[in-house]
Amino acid sequence: MSPRRSHRRGAGTASEKQEWPPEDIRSMEQSVGRAPSVHNTQPWSLVIRDRTASLYERSEVSLEQHDPAGRDRRVSCGAALTNLFLAVRGTGWEAALRRGPSAEEPELVGAVTGAGRREPSVLEGQRFRAIARRSSHRRPFHEQGLAHVAREALLAAGGSSGVRARWITGSAEARHVAELLGYAARVHKKDRHYQRELAMWMLDRSGRAGDPGSGFDGDDLAGEGVPGVGLTTSGTRLPDEGKLAEWIAAESVMVLCTDSDERSDHFRTGEALQLAWLTATSLGLVSSVITQPLHLAEVRRGLRERLGLAGEPHVLARFGYPAPVPGQRRG
Ligand SMILES: Cc1cc2nc3c(=O)[nH]c(=O)nc-3n(C[C@H](O)[C@H](O)[C@H](O)COP(=O)(O)O)c2cc1C
Repeated sequence: MSPRRSHRRGAGTASEKQEWPPEDIRSMEQSVGRAPSVHNTQPWSLVIRDRTASLYERSEVSLEQHDPAGRDRRVSCGAALTNLFLAVRGTGWEAALRRGPSAEEPELVGAVTGAGRREPSVLEGQRFRAIARRSSHRRPFHEQGLAHVAREALLAAGGSSGVRARWITGSAEARHVAELLGYAARVHKKDRHYQRELAMWMLDRSGRAGDPGSGFDGDDLAGEGVPGVGLTTSGTRLPDEGKLAEWIAAESVMVLCTDSDERSDHFRTGEALQLAWLTATSLGLVSSVITQPLHLAEVRRGLRERLGLAGEPHVLARFGYPAPVPGQRRG
C-alpha cells in the first residue's frame, strides 16, 4: 500500500448536530491531530455527534513491513484518545470516557461525552497545554539525570489506564536492552523490503518540510546515542553495544507493558504513553519513543525474559532534559 496522509476527521463526521461550541470542537480536532503516531500516519478518525466525540481506528492505514499486526497503529490511536480527553477537560467540560472496542463498534478507540461544565484541575490544564509543545526528541539528552520527583511523576502517568510501567535500571538491564536493540538494528538494516517501505514514508514526510507534525527534522536520525537505534534506516551506523548499554544506563528509559496482548491493551498503552509524554513536556523534559525493535517477536520475548517483565512489552520511552544546542545562547 502506498503511504497516505490521514484525515483528522473521518468521512462520516457529523458535526451539524453538535452542541459543543465551534471553538471547543476546533480544540478537540487540533489536539487529536497533534498526537504522536507511528510514522506520523495519524491512523484515526474523529466523529463528533451531539456532545460526544468518538475516535475510531482506521485499520486500512497499514504499514505492512513496519507494523504488520497493527500494534503501533493502535498505540497511536490510544495516544490520540488521551489528547481528546484532555481537550474536552481543557475546554471546561466534565468528560465521561467510554473505551472501545465493542462488539457493535469494533473500530472504536473511545468516546468522550461532555457531561456538563467543570473546570479542569491544575494537572489537567498543564497536560492540555503541553499538547501543543510535545514533539519527538531523537537526540542525546543533557547529561543531568532526572530528579527523583520527576521520575515518580512519569512512572505514575506511564502506569495509568491499566498499563505497567517500569524503568530500565542498572548496568545489567541496560546491557540486556542494548543487546536486543543492537540485534533488531542489524535485522532491520539488512531487510530490503522493510527499508524500502521506511524510505517511502521518510520521503513522504520530507515533502512536507515545516509541518510541525511531520516528525523528523534535519539531523533527527543522525545516529547519536540511544536514539541512533530508535529507527534504523539503511544509513544507520550499527551501534557498539557496550557504548549503547552505557548510554541506556545513563538515560531514563521506561518500558510499558500490559498483562495481555489484545487490541484494547494496545489502545491503553497509547493512552498511558501519551499521558507520560505530556507530563514530561509540562515539566520541561523531552522524550522519544522506540517501538521499531519491539516489532520483532524475539525482541519482545527477550525483554520479557531478561528483564523479568510480568506482561507483554509494547514501547520503550526515553525521557531527559534537552542538551544545549551548540552555538545557542541561553536566556
Ligand atoms: C506507537 C508509536 C510508535 C513509534 N515508534 C517510533 C520508533 O520506533 N522510532 C522513532 O524514532 N519514533 C517513533 N515514534 C514517533 C513518531 O515517529 C512520531 O510521533 C511522529 O513522527 C510525529 O512526530 P512528533 O512526535 O514529533 O509529533 C512512534 C510513535 C508512536 C505513537
